[in-house]
Amino acid sequence: MAGPIHPKLLPITTTFSDEGRTFVGGRDVCEIAEEFGTPLFLYDEHHLRQRCRDALWAFGSGVAYGSKAFLCLAMAKLVDEEGLHIDVASAGEAYTALRAGVPAARLVMHGNNKSTAELTYALERGIGRIVVDSVDELERLARLGGFGHPKPKVLLRVTPGVKAHTHEFMATGHEDQKFGLSIEGGAATDAVLRCRGEGSGVELVGIHCHIGSQIFDAESYAKTIAIVAPFFIPLGLPELVVGGGLGAPYVEEEVDGVPTFAEWAAAINRAVKEAGISGVVRLGVEPGRSIAANAAMTVYRVGTIKTLPEIRTYVSIDGGMSDNPRPALYGSGYEAFLPRNGTAERSRPVRIVGKHCETGDVLINEAWVPDDIHVGDLLATPATGAYGYTMANNYNKLPRPAVVFVHDSTARVVVRRETYDDLLRLDSL
Ligand code: LLP
Repeated sequence: MAGPIHPKLLPITTTFSDEGRTFVGGRDVCEIAEEFGTPLFLYDEHHLRQRCRDALWAFGSGVAYGSKAFLCLAMAKLVDEEGLHIDVASAGEAYTALRAGVPAARLVMHGNNKSTAELTYALERGIGRIVVDSVDELERLARLGGFGHPKPKVLLRVTPGVKAHTHEFMATGHEDQKFGLSIEGGAATDAVLRCRGEGSGVELVGIHCHIGSQIFDAESYAKTIAIVAPFFIPLGLPELVVGGGLGAPYVEEEVDGVPTFAEWAAAINRAVKEAGISGVVRLGVEPGRSIAANAAMTVYRVGTIKTLPEIRTYVSIDGGMSDNPRPALYGSGYEAFLPRNGTAERSRPVRIVGKHCETGDVLINEAWVPDDIHVGDLLATPATGAYGYTMANNYNKLPRPAVVFVHDSTARVVVRRETYDDLLRLDSL
């Protein structure tokens, strides 16, 4: 038995009518779904902007939005308008931001295996920072240095040896992994010497680390800073970036466990001070999920309900592991509610599954929904704004959903729904 869906999982502007109908940005969610079809990623634009502002307020100008969480032209433009830099993890993400009109100098390029083509792209466009992840990458940059581009400003990504409490696929601070240069093993020091050597073709401006994603304990960052500081301070560099990873609530048990941006900033600032890092060092963070996750919900249509006596009830929706592979990949939990009555008690236990030809296509293993759920209902899963659309795929040739932004009672499509022709646009006979 569960109560109504928790408001802290929902976009900031969510309200309910007396009958419980759900509104986001002043628009009826059911009406939007009827207008634009399902499945649908529905974003509250105000929520996105507010989270950007909160992050800037807490940290100042060193905030770069981790665009892998959610990126399209409209999102890149919004983030740029709000004054955040943008962290891109490939030339494709960089291309998207540049096409949205974001100045190249506002971009930070990441990646553990940037190709020569991607590095050339970054140098030609004048991307603001490159976060170097390996000695091979430094060699590539040194070779490219001879081709007349201005020297790129780089940070070195180091592994602090911190094990963050999160899913093992999302932890990136420990030693045994593909990212970064080990402080303990000496690779980080080697890389610094190379950057500072003759003909490196780069200007080393800072150190970067990122301990993982969906982290609820701000102290993990304090620990990281304490470890990185003895390496960082003697280098006398002007920039220190501690990555992204602040968690977002997906299920009711998580709503009170998430630090605010202000709490996250306080833990970081305190640790920086305690570690003796100079006040003139420019501190950077890269929040992705914590900006975008709760700004959106996915709205589906219920197509089939099967009750297996003495086993369970299966509710099938018109999407699944193609629009949200996170439950299958990480075992991530979500909640569900019916936007036609968002204030209803959820007294019926069901398993919510997708329409793919896989038993593992489970969206919510044990969901609670209102008793009167029926075929044809619209069903929404909150907190799908991060790593939702960006991880969506076309498994079983399902067209990817549309993405709609709602703001001031206006809903607009920012990424249109794929058509069957789109599915074949790369094919030839
Ligand atoms: N900075 C770096 C270097 C990163 O690798 C990431 C995320 C971020 C920032 C942003 O992290 P956030 O604040 O969003 O946690 N697909 C997984 C998450 C992978 C995160 C990858 N890197 C998921 O669906 O949970």
